[in-house]
Amino acid sequence: MNNRKHFRHVVASALVLLTTTPNIWAAEVSGADLFTNTCAACHGDAGVGIPGLAPPLQNAELWQRLGSKGNEYIAGVMTAGLSGTITVDGIKYQAMVMPPQSMVESEELVKIAEYVLTTLNGSDALPDVVLIDKLKATPLSHKELRAIREQK
Ligand code: HEC
Repeated sequence: MNNRKHFRHVVASALVLLTTTPNIWAAEVSGADLFTNTCAACHGDAGVGIPGLAPPLQNAELWQRLGSKGNEYIAGVMTAGLSGTITVDGIKYQAMVMPPQSMVESEELVKIAEYVLTTLNGSDALPDVVLIDKLKATPLSHKELRAIREQK
């Protein structure tokens, strides 16, 4: 191998290594960026909501009221999706069913949940990978999720 070929070979190998090593990129992605990529198309930038489409996730009243149940609720909705009618600030959201987001890695769903609960709503509830994996395997029904949401 002459030097130039050798150099190309080294560069190519480095690129293969970089692009095939799992999670070296994922580790850098913040909850905010994951939210933007995964949830914001429906819930709006920073979860402000899109009337007629999907409710705001900036909803301190809801997450403060749910307290520690907030972790089960957000993990449950992310893994089962949600249907029915939700009313926030007098606006009804009912036209669309949220599809489950179970194809997203559990570690990434934890980061997204942390962004929604902690950054957007100041809640200290937070689901972990164990809970999310459990709910991926056995999703809650939408009825069960609504019962968690309605509780006082
Ligand atoms: C394809 C659109 C869509 C995507 C993508 C989506 N959602 Fe939703 N989401 C909805 C809709 C629509 C509802 C309301 C469903 C209903 O009316 O029952 C909802 C409801 C919710 C709720 C319940 C809100 C409440 O007030 O009770 C949470 C929490 C939630 N989504 C979180 C997320 C998160 C986190 C992501 C990203 C991982 C996400 N959603 C991605 C459409 C979406």
